[in-house]
Amino acid sequence: MAAIANRFAGRRAVVTGASSGIGRATALRFAAEGARVALIARRRPGLDAVAEAIRAAGGECLVLPADCTIEDQIAAAIEEAAGAWGGLDIIVSNAAVELPEQDDRLDRISLEAWNRLITTNLTGQFLTCKHGLRHLQSAGGGAIVCLGSNVGNLGMAANEPAYSASKGGIFAMMRVMANDFARLNIRVNMVIPGFIDTPMNDFVMRDPVQLKYWSDQVPIGRAGTAEECAAAILWLASDEASYCVGTALVIDGGQSAI
Ligand SMILES: NC(=O)c1ccc[n+]([C@@H]2O[C@H](COP(=O)([O-])OP(=O)(O)OC[C@H]3O[C@@H](n4cnc5c(N)ncnc54)[C@H](O)[C@@H]3O)[C@@H](O)[C@H]2O)c1
Repeated sequence: MAAIANRFAGRRAVVTGASSGIGRATALRFAAEGARVALIARRRPGLDAVAEAIRAAGGECLVLPADCTIEDQIAAAIEEAAGAWGGLDIIVSNAAVELPEQDDRLDRISLEAWNRLITTNLTGQFLTCKHGLRHLQSAGGGAIVCLGSNVGNLGMAANEPAYSASKGGIFAMMRVMANDFARLNIRVNMVIPGFIDTPMNDFVMRDPVQLKYWSDQVPIGRAGTAEECAAAILWLASDEASYCVGTALVIDGGQSAI
């Protein structure tokens, strides 16, 4: 998928979960289109690898390891990026975990697994947006793109109630935020991926039975790519999406159209 030269020249973007999958593809493409990108995830080595690829292609980025569920850490990472570049324009709130071994039918799931999924996926996005919003307001405006999932709106993920609830929560939070900040020149939107081939889905991609099951749920007949999601994230963050507020852009090969 070709980058659009200089679409984000002068823009300063934060991407959480930037070491892998959709976050990685998004960070690479922002940098390829001229943005400076702050790369956030818990562990430095994965972020360093993405930074190396960005710098090798002539892009600019910062590696800021932080756990988005720990308020001091995510606040400090976002603050550091804003301090280095004199402000921020774009926040992509993307980090999440899926715990297929621990998420379970509602009468069986442990409180610990429930809390871990809600804390990482929903509270993590709350804290990322909360601290990102301060800097977007200081800059006089900007864009936030949250990552949801089809399972947040459709009861399609058997035995994954906690992951599904975390994504449904993001959908609700995103729409309220979109309303609250539109008049402050901050556009809040989300991308809702369907079945995407990323490390999060390794357990499906490596199991022929599950791979066939999930591919059969998609009219286009295959998993999507991280790059196809990144293209939608960048579009929502760009000036081309200037009339999109509270939009949930579904990227799912038709999965939710069935
Ligand atoms: N892959 C799919 O099929 C799919 C489908 C629907 C939605 N999504 C959503 O897309 C987004 C990206 O998923 P992906 O498939 O690229 O997953 P992935 O597992 O490849 O990447 C997740 C990223 O989040 C980071 N992360 C996890 N917990 C963190 C924490 N506490 N603090 C900071 N970083 C943390 C990881 O280190 C990694 O960089 C997620 O929000 C996911 O729920 C993915």
